[in-house]
Amino acid sequence: MEVIIQPTKEAAAMLVSRILAKEIQAKPQLVLGLATGRTMEAVYGLLAQMYRVGQLDFSQCKSFNLDEYVGLAPTDPHSYRYYMNEQLFSHVNIDLANTYLPNGAAENLDAECELYEENIRKRGGIDLQLLGIGRSGHIGFNEPLSALLSRTRVKPLTPTTIEQNSGLFERPEHMPRRAITMGVGTILDARRCILLATGAEKADIIAKAVEGPITSMISATALQLHRRCTVIVDEAAAAKLQGTDYYRWVFANEPEWQEFQ
Ligand code: F6R
Repeated sequence: MEVIIQPTKEAAAMLVSRILAKEIQAKPQLVLGLATGRTMEAVYGLLAQMYRVGQLDFSQCKSFNLDEYVGLAPTDPHSYRYYMNEQLFSHVNIDLANTYLPNGAAENLDAECELYEENIRKRGGIDLQLLGIGRSGHIGFNEPLSALLSRTRVKPLTPTTIEQNSGLFERPEHMPRRAITMGVGTILDARRCILLATGAEKADIIAKAVEGPITSMISATALQLHRRCTVIVDEAAAAKLQGTDYYRWVFANEPEWQEFQ
């Protein structure tokens, strides 16, 4: 794992979008793993801007989102399908037929989860997985006690997550209590993971996720097992990390990061 600390949340989002752009330019058929949430909005805005000025071409990309609320149809403005269309897909030239999200309104949810795993496999697996982190320590909606080898399945949401996200619903009690989510094991299969966290409210959980012991109580700690995971944070989210001198030195000196200074 590596940690990159950027001065502001804008700079952190810019770095993530530049890494994504470089990967897409190197492999136009990239299979992207995408996340939703407030943190990602800036990244999608920047990717759309790069597309508009001709720096990016999504025409051959495929994408798989991490999760979707159970019970919400894709047309529901609170669904993650709706979010993705609004924030990214409708602004770039990705073929919507190549964008996958679990169908939270499926009649047979177990079959939907299996199909999702099969679709990821059939398309060669995820090349680059973008991740946020919830205050419960979840990646995707892998709430505490998610098995570190779990696959796509239905997960009940914790009170912390319900509190975190229900503000986005006009009537907080309308927020679904369950979601379909890629498992921790599904996420760990991605060839590269990039986790973005910004803001002081993420400082505690980032310190635990990066420097704490691996535990299914905080599913993001499983990323410590991943071969190629980069955690990108702003100063506020980095505030409780212990090893920042070393992380800063690596970013400033390692050849891989020179072009991103
Ligand atoms: C959503 C997802 C979640 C969010 C996390 C952070 O697809 O996977 O893990 O990334 O809840 O959400 P924000 O960015 O709203 O703080």
